[in-house]
Amino acid sequence: MEKSRHSITAMIFHWGFVIIFIYGIFKQVDDINQLSDISLLKFEIIFAALMLILLIMRYLYMSQTQVTSLPEDTSMFQRRAAKIVHISLYINLSIIPITGLVIGLLYWLGLKSGIFIELTVGSHELSISTMYCLIAIHVSAAIFHRFRNDGVWSSMVPFLKERK
Ligand code: HEM
Ligand code: HEM
Repeated sequence: MEKSRHSITAMIFHWGFVIIFIYGIFKQVDDINQLSDISLLKFEIIFAALMLILLIMRYLYMSQTQVTSLPEDTSMFQRRAAKIVHISLYINLSIIPITGLVIGLLYWLGLKSGIFIELTVGSHELSISTMYCLIAIHVSAAIFHRFRNDGVWSSMVPFLKERK
């Protein structure tokens, strides 16, 4: 099981993004008119752009250096399910800042209401709700592996370690 541990860098990316995501949820824009504050608009745009750049770096690092910790005898169904959830997490983690950036751009261009801004804000909110569902599935799966004691939990989670 030791061989399939994720690297320290992988763990920093994983847990760093958990913090970035929680921070993003707490500092959320409650009302689009808040964006008339130019310093808030700038801050939101910088935050979203940084999140996207870090996400691309994380994806490149993970896909080139790490493999899943699922045990070799894991069924094809379970492997595919894990892959679909992980890819969906990446897709949603990118749609949130991308739609945020489009909102910022439209607002800056003076399109402060109307169909375009409504559609973009709608997609922004939908991707956030989807993210909550995916996180619930992902964390349930992690807890399931913790009970199975198969090494998947401890490969990424630095607490409540499994006993060998
Ligand atoms: C915002 C919340 C989270 C997101 C977006 C997220 C995303 C991901 C992604 C995309 C992976 C695949 C590896 C990678 O590319 O980094 C992964 C792996 C993993 N995550 Fe999370 N995660 C979150 C929270 C958690 C939490 C709270 C736990 C456990 C309590 C957890 C446990 C794991 C484990 C055990 C793996 C390794 C799976 C394997 O090796 O196949 N994650 N996570
Ligand atoms: C990069 C990470 C971002 C995160 C994590 C984030 C998070 C959130 C969250 C949690 C909500 C509430 C959604 C709901 O009600 O379900 C929200 C709404 C919103 N966000 Fe973001 N956001 C981000 C970037 C941006 C950017 C860059 C902008 C614009 C410059 C923006 C503009 C808005 C607007 C206008 C709303 C809707 C407010 C309303 O309901 O009137 N967001 N965001």
